[in-house]
Amino acid sequence: MDSNKRPEDMKRIVTKELADQFIEEKIAEIRKQVGTGKVLLALSGGVDSSVVAALLIKAIGRQLVCVHVNHGLMRKGESEQVLSVFRDQLSANLIYVDATDRFLDKLAGVSDPEAKRKVIGGEFIRVFEEEARKQDNVKFLAQGTIYPDIIESHGVKAHHNVGGLPDDLKFELVEPVKLLFKDEVREVGSALGLPDSMVHRQPFPGPGLGVRCTGAITRDRLAALRESDAILREEFDKAGLTGKVWQFFTVVPDYRSTGVRGGKRVFDWPVVIRAVNTVDAMSATVPELEWALLKKITARILDEVPGVCRVLYDLSPKGPATIEWE
Ligand code: XMP
Repeated sequence: MDSNKRPEDMKRIVTKELADQFIEEKIAEIRKQVGTGKVLLALSGGVDSSVVAALLIKAIGRQLVCVHVNHGLMRKGESEQVLSVFRDQLSANLIYVDATDRFLDKLAGVSDPEAKRKVIGGEFIRVFEEEARKQDNVKFLAQGTIYPDIIESHGVKAHHNVGGLPDDLKFELVEPVKLLFKDEVREVGSALGLPDSMVHRQPFPGPGLGVRCTGAITRDRLAALRESDAILREEFDKAGLTGKVWQFFTVVPDYRSTGVRGGKRVFDWPVVIRAVNTVDAMSATVPELEWALLKKITARILDEVPGVCRVLYDLSPKGPATIEWE
C-alpha cells in the first residue's frame, strides 16, 4: 500500500472524538517508529508544525528537539507565542535561535522577489543544519507535511525549507499528519489543547514579512510593516473579523510619497492594507470593509507608526493581482 495515499475509507476527522482517536493511534505509531531515538523538528509556529510538535511531545516528551528559527521576519509577538506555548506550557525541549541579524544582513540590498525567497530559504536550511549538527544521536526528522502538500508538490513540503539538508544529514522522516487535510489538522490541534490563535492562524508565507516589505528590506521599513500589521490584526480582531476574513495583512512598498507633519514636509512610506477571501487561494475577492473600521485603522497607523504618511486599501481581486505583493 502506498503510505502517501489516503485510503478511500479513511474517516474525515470532524469531531473531537475522532481527533482523540487519531491522536491515540498516532502516539502508538510514533512510539513504535522512534523507540528511544531523538527526533528533530523545525517549529515555525504555523499550524502544521505546531500540531506535529504537540503530538510528538505527547508521544515522546523531551525526545523531541524543536528548533524555532526567528528569521527576523515574523509577525509581532509570534516567536514569543511559540516560546510561551511550547517551552512554558508544554515543557518542550526547544532550541530558540534568534537569527534576525544574520537574515537581515544577507538580505541587505537584495530586491528581486525570487532572490529574496532564495536567500531566506537557503539561510533557513543553514541555520537549521547548524543546530542539527550540535545534537548527537538524532535519527529522525519530523515534518508538518499535510495531504495537500503531497498532492500538490509530490511530497515535498513547499514552504518548509528543511527538504534541502545535505546528504550526511538525511534522517528518517516522521510525518504524522501527512494524510490529513488542513481542517482535520486544526481539529487535532484543538483536541491537543493548542490555543485557538495558533490552531486557526491565517496562512503566513514561509518567507514571512519579507515578501510584504517589498524590494530590498530595510530594518526601519520592516519595523513599520510589523507595527502596522499588528494594528491591523488588533482592529480586525476587535471588529470580529478574525476567522471571517481569510487572510489580512499590511504591505510597505519601497517608495515614499510626500506628506506634511507638524507644518513640515515629509517624505514617508505608504502602508497598504490587504484583505482577501478565498476558498483555495487560486482566486480571491476583496471584502467590503466598514468605512469606520478603515478610518480607525488608518488613524492608528498614521498616529502610531513612524515613517508612514499614507494608508491605502488594495481593492484588487486575484486575478489579476496575487494575494501577496511579491
Ligand atoms: P499569492 O500571492 O500567490 O498567494 O496569491 C497565495 C497564497 O500563498 C501564500 N504565499 C506563500 N506561502 N511561501 C509560502 O509558504 C511563499 O513564498 C508564498 N508566497 C505566497 C500567500 O500568503 C497566500 O496565502
